[in-house]
Amino acid sequence: MEMEQLVALCKRRGFLFQSSEIYGGLNGFWDYGPLGVELKRNIREAWWQDMVASHNELVAPPGAPSAYEMVGLDSTIIMHPQVWKCSGHYDLFHDYLVDCRESKRRYRFDQVYGRWVEAKGQQIFVATEALGQEALDDTLHKALKFFNLRAKQAEELKWLGGIVPLQTPGLPEYDFSKVLGPDAKTLGTLTEPREFNLMYETYSGAIRDENNKVFLRPETAQGIFVNFKNVLDSTRVRVPFGIAQVGKSFRNEITPRNFTFRSREFEQMEIEFFCHPSTSAAWYQYWRDRRFRWYVELGLAGERLRLREHSKEELSHYSCGTADIEYAFPFLPPGEFGELEGVAHRGDFDLRSHMEGKLVRQGDSLVLETGEDGKPKHRGSGKDLTYFDDLTKERYVPHVIEPSAGADRAALAFLCEAYCEDTAPDEKGVPTPRVLLKLHPRLAPIKAAVFPLVRKDGMPEIAREIYTQLKPHLSAFYDEKGAVGRRYRRQDEVGTPFCITVDGQTLSDGTVTIRDRDTLRQWRVRKEDCLAEIRRRLQAT
Ligand code: GAP
Repeated sequence: MEMEQLVALCKRRGFLFQSSEIYGGLNGFWDYGPLGVELKRNIREAWWQDMVASHNELVAPPGAPSAYEMVGLDSTIIMHPQVWKCSGHYDLFHDYLVDCRESKRRYRFDQVYGRWVEAKGQQIFVATEALGQEALDDTLHKALKFFNLRAKQAEELKWLGGIVPLQTPGLPEYDFSKVLGPDAKTLGTLTEPREFNLMYETYSGAIRDENNKVFLRPETAQGIFVNFKNVLDSTRVRVPFGIAQVGKSFRNEITPRNFTFRSREFEQMEIEFFCHPSTSAAWYQYWRDRRFRWYVELGLAGERLRLREHSKEELSHYSCGTADIEYAFPFLPPGEFGELEGVAHRGDFDLRSHMEGKLVRQGDSLVLETGEDGKPKHRGSGKDLTYFDDLTKERYVPHVIEPSAGADRAALAFLCEAYCEDTAPDEKGVPTPRVLLKLHPRLAPIKAAVFPLVRKDGMPEIAREIYTQLKPHLSAFYDEKGAVGRRYRRQDEVGTPFCITVDGQTLSDGTVTIRDRDTLRQWRVRKEDCLAEIRRRLQAT
C-alpha cells in the first residue's frame, strides 16, 4: 500500500482532515472527521476497557507477578511550572535544530542525513531529510545540480560512502562549510545546531511575565505522579496498582511529518504502575508483554509489529529498562520501524523528583541536582510521596513501570494494517476491484450498515425498522441510495464488518441477509434477530 492511497481515503471518507484546511492548514495539527473520531474513540475505549475497566483486581492475569488494582485519572493540561522543572522537561526536553539561512527552513539535527561526494576537484556533503532509496535518489539529483552535470554524466560523481547522519566522524564538528543543506543551492548555509525546548509556553492570568509562564503538558504522565498521594489517600488502592490517564499532549515538534505520526497536538494513553522495588523487574516484563499482546489482539499481528528492547546507551538516565513497541509504517524505508508505545522501567525517579527536587544520575545512584551556589537547581514539593505498607510495616518509594501509548499513532497503525485491495463479485457476479479496511470489529467506526435492496415494495420501511432497532446499541448506518454493490463497496472502504440487506425474500419470509466484509459470506437471519446476531458476532471477535 502506498501511503498516499491511505491519506486520500482518510480525507475522502472523513477519517482525517488537515487542521484549519480552509486557511491553508496548520503544520503538525490534524482533525478527526466523523469516521475518524469513532475510530479513535474505539481505540481509547478498547484501551480503557482492557487495561482499566474490565481489569479484575482479585485475579492475577497470566504472566503477572500478582493481582493488582487499576484506577483512572483526568488531570489538567496546564499544571504548576515546577512540575516540569522537577520532571526534567524544563531543562532536558529538547531537540537540536539547524536552520538554513538560504531556504529559511528548519531541520531536526538528528534527522538530517547525506553522503559525501567528489567531483570537479571538490568534496561536498549533500544533505537530505529522506531515508533509504529516496535519500540516494535525492542526493544524486542534488549533486548533479550542484556540479552542473547532466544525468548521463553521473559517473563523474565519486561517492565517498553511503548515507550517514549529518554529524559523522568525517565531518568536522559544527563546520558546515562543506555541507549542501537539504533545500539549499549553495554550500555552508546551515547554522550550528542549537537546543530547542519542545514545550509550548503560555501565560496564566492577565500579566504576561516570567512569573506567570506556564506550559502545555508534553505528556500526561506527570499529572499522574503529582496525584499519587491524592489517589492513595482517597481510595483503598494498595501497591501494586496502576493509574491510567488518556488525554491530549502538546509538543512543538521541529519537523512534524508522516501524516499524524509526528504531530504537535496528540493524544496519549498512559499508565503509571507503582510496585515494590523488589518486584519491579518482573512487572516490567509483564507490562511489556501485556501491551504488545494488546496490539496483536486488535489486529497488528505479523512482521510489521515488533517489540524492541533498548540498548544500555539508549536508556534515559533514570531508566533500568525500556522497550518500544514498534510498527513498520509504510512511509518508512524498508526495514525501519516507528514507535507506537514505550514501556519504561522508571525506578523511583519521578516520585523522588517531585518530593526532593530534580535528580540526576551519579554513577549508580540518583542525586539532587545543584546549581553553582550548591543549592538544589529545582526544588521539589517537599511532600511525602512514600508508601507505607501496613501489612509489612515497610515504608518505601515505589518503583514505576510506565506503558505510554499514543492514540493517534495506534489509529494510524491500525489504518495502515487494515488497508488492502482485492476483488469481490459485483451484482452480476463479475469480480471487481475493491478497497477494504480490515479493521478489527471492535475498532470499526460503523459496526453494521442496513440497506434495502431497492427503494420500493416496502423494503426501505423494513430496513429503517432494523436500523432503528440497532442504532441505540451500536454504531449503525442506513443507506438506500444507488446500486447495492456500490453501497457494499462504500462500507468495505471504511471497514464496516457487517452489511444487512432487506431483499425480495424478506417480504415473503421475514429474513434478511447479513454479509461479512472479509469473507463475503452471506447468510440469512430473521429480521427481528439482527441486533442479537450482530452483537454475537462482535463479541466473538
Ligand atoms: N511519558 C512518556 C512519554 O511521553 P514518549 O515516548 O515521548 O514517552 C509516548 O511518548 C508515546 O506518545 C509515543 O510512543 C507515541 O505513541 C506518542 N507520541 C509521542 N510524541 C508524539 C507526536 N509528536 N505525535 C504523535 N504521537 C506522539
